[in-house]
Amino acid sequence: MKRIDDDPRHGPPAVEVRGLVKHYGETKALDGVDLEVREGTVLGVLGPNGAGKTTLVRCLSTLVEPDAGTATVAGYDVLSQPRQLRRVIGLTGQYASVDEKLSGWENLYMIGRLLDLSRRDARRRADEMLERFSLTEAARRPAMQYSGGMRRRLDLAASMIGRPAVLYLDEPTTGLDPRTRNEVWDEVRSMTADGVTVLLTTQYMEEAEQLAHELTVIDRGRVIAGGRVDELKAKVGGRTLQLRPSDPAQLTAMAAAIAAAGLDGVVGARAVPEEGQLYVPILSDEQLTAVVGLLGAQGFSLAHIGTHLPSLDEVFLAITGEKSAHDRPGRHDAHEQYEEAAV
Ligand SMILES: Nc1ncnc2c1ncn2[C@@H]1O[C@H](COP(=O)(O)OP(=O)(O)OP(=O)(O)O)[C@@H](O)[C@H]1O
Ligand SMILES: [Mg+2]
Repeated sequence: MKRIDDDPRHGPPAVEVRGLVKHYGETKALDGVDLEVREGTVLGVLGPNGAGKTTLVRCLSTLVEPDAGTATVAGYDVLSQPRQLRRVIGLTGQYASVDEKLSGWENLYMIGRLLDLSRRDARRRADEMLERFSLTEAARRPAMQYSGGMRRRLDLAASMIGRPAVLYLDEPTTGLDPRTRNEVWDEVRSMTADGVTVLLTTQYMEEAEQLAHELTVIDRGRVIAGGRVDELKAKVGGRTLQLRPSDPAQLTAMAAAIAAAGLDGVVGARAVPEEGQLYVPILSDEQLTAVVGLLGAQGFSLAHIGTHLPSLDEVFLAITGEKSAHDRPGRHDAHEQYEEAAV
């Protein structure tokens, strides 16, 4: 039987960050960040442009020194044990780090050599990773001829060469089309199935929902919410009850009946005639029963009843009071340029 101690979510944290601060002049890129990633799990760090995601990843990779606070990765301190720490991490940066002129194979071989693998081991590892990330056929082509998706896969392969215990993925699918995004997600899932701990930054709610066990939402260098994806959703918005009357003509009358009843905690109902549906925000099962009971008692007939949790976009809106990150203007994205270059 599986004991609770066997669950990685109850094990020691692979990444532990306390009060991390990094200022660039007046800009508080990180303004006292606390977070943990349990061994063998994926933590999604969700935040809009400029939230501090890349700065966090840089601090945790020893590329940038924090002004204050502590961070340990696999038990190693970022400030006092940078060399040991670098040996256990992998990093797929927001801006791809592959060498354009080298082939996929050469890129991976070179990284293996930089990581002190013997020639033979570096060769073998490069072959293995190309195979795993479905790049064997493109292995000898220069990386500049790769499509955006192939580049991302090469990036992931590169970060896995050294068999890291902890992997940072900084916006791994930004700028990719939905199909390629799905391919990258599959790769990330297979890496976590192998026991790798992942800290994933993203601006995509769906990505966090697909991959992350837990979520930390950051904005302007501060953690504004955190928890399991479903917990976070429930905490922010409760559920929405979806009702479809058997007779679409009754939609408005139904909405009015719910509003007039003044049920405890039920703030109102929104009729969407185009869908023939009524949406009612609810917080408990009792409210669900009360709404459905009320409609039945008043002689309305229902063709369909459903409930759904709010989307992460709605969660973000509720927490920050602003539109979700990818609706904000002004994003400069290196990966989009890659895709154009690859056509
Ligand atoms: N080297 C730097 N010098 C000065 N300011 C910086 C530097 N790096 C980051 N910043 C600033 O710190 C803040 C956080 O930037 P960071 O790159 O960490 O955000 P991010 O969450 O990764 O954003 P994005 O989603 O656009 O990648 C921003 O205001 C940014 O302009
Ligand atoms: Mg970034």
